[in-house]
Amino acid sequence: TANMDISSDEADDWFMESLHIYRDLHVFQLEHPTKVIEWTGEKSICVADYSSARNEILELLLPLKLYAGGNKGLCPERDFKLQHGGFCDEPVECLRHIFGKRCVVTSGQYSSKLQVWDIGEGDSDIIKRTGVINPKCPSDKGRKIASGVTDGASVLHGSRINDVQQTELVSGRVLYAVGTDSLDAVSGLQFVNSSTFVVCANNGTLYVGDTRDPRMKHYVLHGSMSGSHWVFALRKDQPHSDPAACTVARLSSFGQVLVSDLRNLCSPVRQAQLNLQQNMATCDFLNVTWAPVLDSCLAVSGFDGKVHIFDTTSWSTVSQTPQPVFVHRGHDLSHEAKTDGTLLVVTTHVWHPWRPRTLLSAASDGSIHVWDWVDKNFEHF
Ligand SMILES: *[C@@H]1O[C@H](CO)[C@@H](O)[C@H](O)[C@H]1NC(C)=O
Ligand SMILES: *[C@@H]1O[C@H](CO)[C@@H](O)[C@H](O)[C@H]1NC(C)=O
Ligand SMILES: *[C@@H]1O[C@H](CO)[C@@H](O)[C@H](O)[C@H]1NC(C)=O
Repeated sequence: TANMDISSDEADDWFMESLHIYRDLHVFQLEHPTKVIEWTGEKSICVADYSSARNEILELLLPLKLYAGGNKGLCPERDFKLQHGGFCDEPVECLRHIFGKRCVVTSGQYSSKLQVWDIGEGDSDIIKRTGVINPKCPSDKGRKIASGVTDGASVLHGSRINDVQQTELVSGRVLYAVGTDSLDAVSGLQFVNSSTFVVCANNGTLYVGDTRDPRMKHYVLHGSMSGSHWVFALRKDQPHSDPAACTVARLSSFGQVLVSDLRNLCSPVRQAQLNLQQNMATCDFLNVTWAPVLDSCLAVSGFDGKVHIFDTTSWSTVSQTPQPVFVHRGHDLSHEAKTDGTLLVVTTHVWHPWRPRTLLSAASDGSIHVWDWVDKNFEHF
């Protein structure tokens, strides 16, 4: 449904229903929309502007009411709070927090450079740039970034498969560069352990590399699946995972999902055709993530103004059209005031690291929500 079709009755109904289907639901309005939400601490996130001339990077404190436990009624803090802020010279495409440090790395839509930011501490409320990394062979803009899991802070980044490299943040030294000539665009990358990493190309091909070897293995999809845009998510049980315990999910702009064991990327173990259609001009916002706590649950967004949660447990190698276990419709339904005809889309979402059913999501109207849904099967808990 287009947002403009949503009547205020529907929004009212949803508001009444929301009292039963959410344990928590807090909404916030950013001045400009973000396509990144990155955890920077137990109760804080970083977001960044992708659409205005100012390109703000903000660190926000989550509503404290979310953490109030049994005393929710007494806790008045239901708003997100601005903690730190700064400006970037280009719209932010990707943003990664460096684990254990007050530091984030961003890439922008206009250049191939990466920018390193100190997100501030204590009294200082300024996010300031502390460094710039210029890739060795600067090609395309909007590089994708993964945080390294080594002792020294580093990032793995790339725009095309042939320019993927790992760079040390402090020195700007290139620690690793891939040795392949594939020009496929990178849709995402992630480390499995401190040396093994996975890269997903826009056309769905997966590449598995090791930072001690420039060669990468690659796994191509069957021809019938080409022509769509693919993104991926890696599920691992701990920072330094055994690849045997890792599962890869790939999502296409046609709503296909393939779930594979990292040890055997050739033949998916589960697959599905989601009842979702890409009706945006771009695939910029397509996102799939594994739930960190709920085993085998996937969240999917970027098709419309909703976030869909699926449980993959019952999926098999035979493709099926599964029903979601939960749909967050809040962005659509709180958007009714603006009837300018533009299609609202959820731009990104993230799971809370340890609260099983809590997610954050952001949409193209600048709304950002944190929500904890009620599992109907376990209501008595
Ligand atoms: C989904 O969004 C999250 C939060 O912005 C980001 O960390 C993740 O890389 C995105 N995943 C994909 C497949 O784009
Ligand atoms: C990461 O996992 C791969 C595959 O099991 C293994 O070959 C490699 O040695 C591991 N790397 C480290 C640094 O443990
Ligand atoms: C994706 O690109 C790779 C490398 O260019 C190519 O080998 C592969 O056939 C492509 N896959 C599809 C599904 O088009």
